[in-house]
Amino acid sequence: MWNQLQLAYLGIEVPDPASLTPCFGDVVGLVPGEPGSPAGSLAWRNDDRAQRVVLRPGAANDAVYVGFEAAGEAAFEAVAARLETAGYPVEEGSAELVADRRVSRLASTTAPWGVGVELVDHLRSASHPYSSALMPGGFFTTGVGFGHVVFATVAFEESHHFATDGLGFEQSDWLEIEIAEGVELEVRFYHCNERHHTLALAKAPFELPQTLHHVMFEANKRDDVGAAFDRAWASGLPIPNGLGRHDNDGMFSFYVASPAGFLVEVGHGAKLVTEKWDENRRYDRMSLWGHKPLRPTAP
Ligand SMILES: [Fe+2]
Repeated sequence: MWNQLQLAYLGIEVPDPASLTPCFGDVVGLVPGEPGSPAGSLAWRNDDRAQRVVLRPGAANDAVYVGFEAAGEAAFEAVAARLETAGYPVEEGSAELVADRRVSRLASTTAPWGVGVELVDHLRSASHPYSSALMPGGFFTTGVGFGHVVFATVAFEESHHFATDGLGFEQSDWLEIEIAEGVELEVRFYHCNERHHTLALAKAPFELPQTLHHVMFEANKRDDVGAAFDRAWASGLPIPNGLGRHDNDGMFSFYVASPAGFLVEVGHGAKLVTEKWDENRRYDRMSLWGHKPLRPTAP
């Protein structure tokens, strides 16, 4: 299904939402969204929409829900019906939930990777436009959603079924690499619009403490990624992957580790996919160059 969905928002539960402000605010350059519920929640945004990342206080220390915005009423109905047919009944969201998510309609289910999936219509705009001195070029979101999310799961094939037969995503390509002697990593990348991948799934060898591997924000300007990298370096946060360029989507990016453990990728210039995409093939390396763990400085 082409151009029927976009990544709307990501809900993350952490014991102390404010602990992520240095990462999302100071490093990435997101700006505060409208305060939501429950009390103590914080919202962040990377464009004119009311919220893109929501942090709520709690013990999960992981993503708890992800929203996909339908391209109108007909698309909403089509995706909801598709999920039902694929074996994932959806539940119509209450008025309270609809209001909290700043949408006009919501239907939810749970993905096989254990995170709530919310199909929504019309994510509202914030009361004032997006502007960030730290990210002057802004982020690439128009028509493609706020970024991409990557989850690790032991329920790999079932999750693939959910993404493709349920949500109607198409696989863009996949990665198979040996990360240690005899240990294979497989990641499948999925698109639902021009963004090379809105969702990716990594095959976890065993149940991991966190399902969310990373969330990615794509800057419009390459220099804004460099400046964000400088801020990440100055922040003292771990940088498990320094600047590099991915082989499959061509993204120039780096990854900073949030204080909650999951990673945040800041990138620029990923290739776009087309409706008639026929490059679904295997890649055997993560990056053309870079994305190496950075050498710690001598004490
Ligand atoms: Fe990524």
